Amino acid sequence: MVCPWWLCYSFDNPLRRFFHPPAPLLAPFLKPGMIAVDIGCGMGYFTIALARLVGPGGRVIAVDLQQRMLDALMRRAVHAGVADRITPHRCGKESLGFAGPVDFALAFWMAHEVPDKPRFFGEIFALLGPAGRLLLVEPKYHVSAGAFCRTVEMCREQGFSPTDEPAAALSRAVLMGKGESRR
Ligand SMILES: C[S@@+](CC[C@H](N)C(=O)[O-])C[C@H]1O[C@@H](n2cnc3c(N)ncnc32)[C@H](O)[C@@H]1O
Repeated sequence: MVCPWWLCYSFDNPLRRFFHPPAPLLAPFLKPGMIAVDIGCGMGYFTIALARLVGPGGRVIAVDLQQRMLDALMRRAVHAGVADRITPHRCGKESLGFAGPVDFALAFWMAHEVPDKPRFFGEIFALLGPAGRLLLVEPKYHVSAGAFCRTVEMCREQGFSPTDEPAAALSRAVLMGKGESRR
């Protein structure tokens, strides 16, 4: 089931900064000038931090199925002074629908909502440049350890190589690159 817009407020609120501080979580994977994509960006909790980390010479593509999420995100981006580096993109259920290459992809607390995961991860793999990386983070309360392992296995089947398991509160997380299995 796709997270309805009103449910976003239950986790995308000021308290979240205490358990998901966005800049410290993402800074190890980003440099100024990079192109990043925030897939299933919701109301942009991580998009704003990504935009600050890539700096004025970088770009963030914020992708979501729901226009209402993108509208809320862009209001926040204007307020934060980073709207000029963010491209909102409303995708369809069948495809993300934009071309790469991108340096970094974030899929935070959203992949469990995607019915066709092999297609989804295959599309992300194709979007990433040769040194591109995907940070996949799933909520523990929705995704069991077994289900997360099966999702990572699907990523491997699409060509990804897990390289790290960054810590993220209440979550299961894996960082993946194209590695040896580059297609
Ligand atoms: C639980 S929210 C997480 C939002 C955000 N990543 C965060 O951590 O605050 C999941 C979001 O993923 C979006 N979503 C679900 N399936 C999607 C898909 N196939 N492509 C793009 N976005 C999707 C939903 O519309 C929703 O905004």
